[in-house]
Parts: sequence; C-alpha cells; structure tokens
Amino acid sequence: MADKSKHFHHGRSSRDILDAEFVLESIGLKKGDNFLDAGSGDGYMSIAASKIVGDRGKVFAVDIWEESMNILKKEIQEKKINNIMAIIADISDKIPVENESIDLCYMGNVLHGFVQNEDYNEVMKEIGRILKKEGIFAVIEFIKRENTPGPPIHVRITPEVVEKIVSNHGFEVKKVIEAGKYHYGVISFKKNKTV
Ligand SMILES: C[S@@+](CC[C@H](N)C(=O)[O-])C[C@H]1O[C@@H](n2cnc3c(N)ncnc32)[C@H](O)[C@@H]1O
Repeated sequence: MADKSKHFHHGRSSRDILDAEFVLESIGLKKGDNFLDAGSGDGYMSIAASKIVGDRGKVFAVDIWEESMNILKKEIQEKKINNIMAIIADISDKIPVENESIDLCYMGNVLHGFVQNEDYNEVMKEIGRILKKEGIFAVIEFIKRENTPGPPIHVRITPEVVEKIVSNHGFEVKKVIEAGKYHYGVISFKKNKTV
C-alpha cells in the first residue's frame, strides 16, 4: 500500500499540455473498450475516453486524491456522462475492478512517482491482474529534457526505464511514441498468460 507521506504530485494535471484525443487514438483506444485511467487526477483523459468507448464501453477513473475525484465527479454530473466510474482507491493496493476485465490501461504522468519511491512492483502486479490477455498498457511520461514542463529533471524517467519495468512485469513492448511536445509513450501489451 502506498505510504501517504510520500509525494505523488496530487492535484497536478497535464490537461493543458497533452492532447487527449490524439493520445487516445495513438494508443489504440476503440469503441466498446473498457478503459482504466490509473492515477487519473482530474480525469480529463477519462472524459475524452468516454466519448470514444461509447455506450457499450466503460471508463474507470481511479485516483487516491479525493479533491481530484470531486472535480471529475462534478464534470460527469454537469455533462450527464453515464459510462465513467470515478473511484477513489490506491492503485498500488487494490484497484476495485475484476480480474482480466480491462482492454486498455492508461497511466499518465504517474509511474515516475512510483519509481522515485522505489515501490512500483505492487502497482505493476495490479495492472497485470486487471488487464485482459493481450490488453494494452500505455505509460505516458514527461520527456527527460531540461527547460521543459514537468517534474524536476532528476525525477523524470526515460523510455528505457519504462520499457525495463513493463518487460519485467509480463508485458511486451509494442512501440514507443511521441505523445505531444513534452511527452513520450511506451505502449505494451500483456503477454498471453494467466495472472
Ligand atoms: C502528476 S498527477 C497525473 C494526473 C493525470 N494522470 C494527468 O496526467 O493529469 C499523478 C496522479 O497520480 C495519483 N496517484 C499517485 N499515487 C497514487 C496511488 N497510489 N493510487 C492512486 N492514485 C495515485 C495522484 O493523486 C495524482 O493525481
């Protein structure tokens, strides 16, 4: 379980520097998919995903920070969206969704926090549990380059670090993408084995 004293950039959002539709298209989200936004923050990516997955799909936005979830819940109500579940939970403890029920798990600007705290194994196991066989795991992170938006440079992680982590946890890297001016993405899928 995550130590609440550690710093996880609660309340930060990449809403203004990431193009949600472009990212979701690049990582392969489809109509009818079950999408999980792990460490969703204010959930702007989940809102965009809800339009793509449509009525037959579902979006699970999960974050430990209640204030961010309240922002998302308000937007869901105002826009009368009925396919997003906004859930307060610790993604390194128990993500409250069924085993092998998710087609695509998106983790945007979150993994570097776990790497900094050296406790990413639990969250990676949870992602492995909830993804369907061959389900997609998309990690989006800030490019590790000076004078660009994002967390302090020493906290940022390179695509190679992400590739190593996902490969060590039962995922196969499909591609590394540019995800806008300041971000890259490592797109992997869960290898065809039972969790
Ligand atoms: C830098 S923000 C990114 C938010 C969003 N994905 C974005 O790109 O705008 C990191 C988010 O991860 C969440 N987070 C960190 N550790 C978490 C944990 N153990 N369980 C659930 N959420 C967590 C934080 O509360 C925060 O909202």
